[in-house]
Amino acid sequence: MNNHTMEDLVSLCKRRGFIFQSNEIYGGLQGLYDYGPLGVELKNNLKQSWWKSMIYDRDDIEGIDSSILTNPLVLKYSGHEDTFSDPLLDCRNCNSRWRADHIADNKCPGCGSEDLTDPRPFNLMFKTNVGPVEDGNSFAYLRPETAQNIFTNFKNVLDSTPHPLPFGIAQMGKAFRNEITPRNFIFRVREFEQMELEFFVKPGEDEEWHKNWTDLRLDWWEDQGIARDKLELYHVPRDELAHYSKATVDIMYKYPHGLEELEGIANRTDFDLGSHTKGQKELKISAKVEENTQSNAKLAVQDLETKEWIVPYVIEPSAGVDRGFLAILNEAYRIEELEDNKNRTVLGLKPHLAPIKLAVIPLKKNDENIVKASRELKNKLQQAIAGRVLLENTGNIGKSYRKHDEIGTPACITVDFQSIEDNTFTVRDRDSMTQERVHLDEVREFLLQKYNI
Ligand code: GLY
Repeated sequence: MNNHTMEDLVSLCKRRGFIFQSNEIYGGLQGLYDYGPLGVELKNNLKQSWWKSMIYDRDDIEGIDSSILTNPLVLKYSGHEDTFSDPLLDCRNCNSRWRADHIADNKCPGCGSEDLTDPRPFNLMFKTNVGPVEDGNSFAYLRPETAQNIFTNFKNVLDSTPHPLPFGIAQMGKAFRNEITPRNFIFRVREFEQMELEFFVKPGEDEEWHKNWTDLRLDWWEDQGIARDKLELYHVPRDELAHYSKATVDIMYKYPHGLEELEGIANRTDFDLGSHTKGQKELKISAKVEENTQSNAKLAVQDLETKEWIVPYVIEPSAGVDRGFLAILNEAYRIEELEDNKNRTVLGLKPHLAPIKLAVIPLKKNDENIVKASRELKNKLQQAIAGRVLLENTGNIGKSYRKHDEIGTPACITVDFQSIEDNTFTVRDRDSMTQERVHLDEVREFLLQKYNI
């Protein structure tokens, strides 16, 4: 059975410690969520999988981790101050505010009134004061995308870790948008995480790289457990493109609330590097800009053969961590009917994403020998496995299996009386529920072969 709702996912997340409403004990704060003990593991695993595919599995991409507070000049020259807005309208009847493109039939979603104002742009960036003086001039923005500090660090990265074109700079981390109407659980929130790559290519090779990256990103999502036939490509029409984009392809996924964007892959051309070069020249911030008249552009690379200075074009695969989390959860969630007319909830996560890789379960809660052997086994496996191995000493095997099915643990190992005698353990598989007896000397290899953990 796979006809669950968003409420089923929200309920599982709260019950099992994946996601909580933020600031809940004080009534919450709209559009913010906290990741709990299992959520943080799954989220970290997802990010790690992205980082590995971008940085470790290739040699042409470097990673950075930049500040969240951003100099307003960066966002002035990036175009965000002028254009990073959504259309906002007010209901004159109930004084509520809405995103104009979320309004159906020209009616207020709150009270149904048609007495609405005309839409006006509402800038989505959060501002905050910097330093002790609140004079309106000493402020910074919370970054609305991780991308901008990749562009501002373009030279730093290239000078310290040189690469010929094409090459990329990747970053993952928090971004902030003052959404008019946050909604659909962790899909549209005000504080979220992005995984963004800016891939710099020669102008003229950009369209081919745009296609390449779209294919690569589809493959990656498939590796995270989202079947290709659950993903659709949406070629964003010209009049819907972001101010920096020449072309954008969105990877769409059918969430419980509808088909929506999981990741956008934009061709940002030389817009950002060009704008920041212009910014530095206008402000005469960098002496190097003046010296570098030959390049006529600071954020550029020199072609080693022609000696020509090139402002690279940028292909940007930009994925939402939280949106990815929700899609993966939705794909993995299933309810199975068992023979005895009971149901079990299973989270069929890929092992590399599972919050708990392995649960070691003593058959008897209070049997000293069994508990000791279980602890030793847990410690031994924890040394070898990247990810959490849990000693689950509840004394109720059936209940422990159900719990670990529901949170996506790929396998449970039970330590029983025979284990004390001959060092063998029962490995129970989450998906098939079959059990195999494995000797201590073989258990590591068994887990590696079967689950790649
Ligand atoms: N960097 C693209 C975005 O944040 O939407």
